[in-house]
Amino acid sequence: MKIYHAKDYQEMSRMAANLLAAQITLKPDSVLGLATGSSPLEVYDRLAMRCRQKDLDFGRITTVNLDEYKGLAPQDPQSYRYFMDTHLFSRVNIAKNRTFVPDGLEEDGAKACENYETILDSLGPVDMQLLGLGHNGHIGFNEPADAFPALTHQVDLTASTIDANRRFFTSASAVPRQAYTMGIGSIMRARKILVIVSGSAKARILKEAVNGPISPLVPASILQLHPDVTVIADEAALSLF
Ligand code: F6R
Repeated sequence: MKIYHAKDYQEMSRMAANLLAAQITLKPDSVLGLATGSSPLEVYDRLAMRCRQKDLDFGRITTVNLDEYKGLAPQDPQSYRYFMDTHLFSRVNIAKNRTFVPDGLEEDGAKACENYETILDSLGPVDMQLLGLGHNGHIGFNEPADAFPALTHQVDLTASTIDANRRFFTSASAVPRQAYTMGIGSIMRARKILVIVSGSAKARILKEAVNGPISPLVPASILQLHPDVTVIADEAALSLF
């Protein structure tokens, strides 16, 4: 695992955007695994800017997102599909039909997850997977648990995740209680993984994930076993190293 130190959120975002841009340039038909949340916002801004300047071409890129809230429609401003459309897909020359997000409107959890696994299988390994790190060590919505779930599955969100995500909703009670997420196995199949972490609130969990025992209680700790992981974290997130 390589750990790069960035001064702050802006520098972290610049470095991560550079790695993703290099991936797109070197392999223009890459499959990119993408995340939502606050961490990648500036990364997406930077990629969109480079695309606008004709410095980057998304014309042959395919994307798969990690997760989606169960019950939210694509047009719902809180859905992850809406987030991706707003922050990236509508700003770059990507073919919309090659952007995949689990179907939050599919009420049958087993079916939603099976369908997403079929899509992942048909695309082959993700070339570069971008991840944020949850305050409780989750990646995607793989919450601390007794075992590492392999495939896309339905999860009950933990109180800590609901609390962390309430800032995007009118209140904690408006945060959906369930989500569909790629499993740890699906994430670990990626050829390269890029993790971005910012802020002192993530310092303790980042240290546990990188240096602690590999345990499903800290889902991100599994990344220690992946052969090609790059972590880009800012000074505040690295303050306990
Ligand atoms: C989002 C996702 C989550 C976030 C994590 C960090 O698609 O899968 O695992 O990456 O919760 O969120 P932020 O970046 O908002 O701190």
